[in-house]
Amino acid sequence: MDAVRVLALSGSERSGSWNKRLLALGEQSLRSRGASVETLDLRSLALPLFDADIEKQGVPAAVRRLRDALLACDAVLIATPEYNGFPTPLLINSFDWLSRLPAEDGLPSGLASTAGRPVGLLSASPGQLGGLRALNFTRQYVSMAFAMLPVPQQFALPKANEAFDETGALKDGRQQASVEAVATGLLKVAAALKAAAG
Ligand SMILES: Cc1cc2nc3c(=O)[nH]c(=O)nc-3n(C[C@H](O)[C@H](O)[C@H](O)COP(=O)(O)O)c2cc1C
Repeated sequence: MDAVRVLALSGSERSGSWNKRLLALGEQSLRSRGASVETLDLRSLALPLFDADIEKQGVPAAVRRLRDALLACDAVLIATPEYNGFPTPLLINSFDWLSRLPAEDGLPSGLASTAGRPVGLLSASPGQLGGLRALNFTRQYVSMAFAMLPVPQQFALPKANEAFDETGALKDGRQQASVEAVATGLLKVAAALKAAAG
């Protein structure tokens, strides 16, 4: 069977983002298990804040980059910060726009590009809960609205500002094991679905 292809997305693209660091460890863990990983910088899509008046002029062309990246993957890994208990506007706005992309030119709609795709969830925060509240909303958002299949394993990294060493590794082996559990769980479901699809 071909390698499982994973799309990695971060809800924060700021330089020095803890979530990007955690995502990088998730990617590393996936690659070490034979997966191929593509990252898409959601900020590079430069999407305006969703506005139905903008939509009347057409869904921004860059939304198709997200749709196409989803169509090209078997699974998705998301790391998102928590902003006031919720996933970030960058993540939500990108997916809200995606949900408005119709089927066109022989390609599926934005919603069809997410449906049935397994997703692994990570979060990191300098706070005590590591963004756990946002993870649970993200889980609900991607499954309820986008028909994605969140795997049971997830990991919220608390005190992220103290968690990494100078090489970018997690100092605590148990936390590293939790990242790997998300990667393993995601690959297991993705491989099973890929095999079932033939
Ligand atoms: C608007 C805003 C709201 C925030 N709310 C929370 C929160 O509810 N819980 C939390 O743990 N951290 C919260 N934070 C702190 C973020 O976790 C912190 O800025 C983190 O570094 C963002 O992730 P990043 O490093 O990947 O960019 C908030 C930050 C901002 C800017």
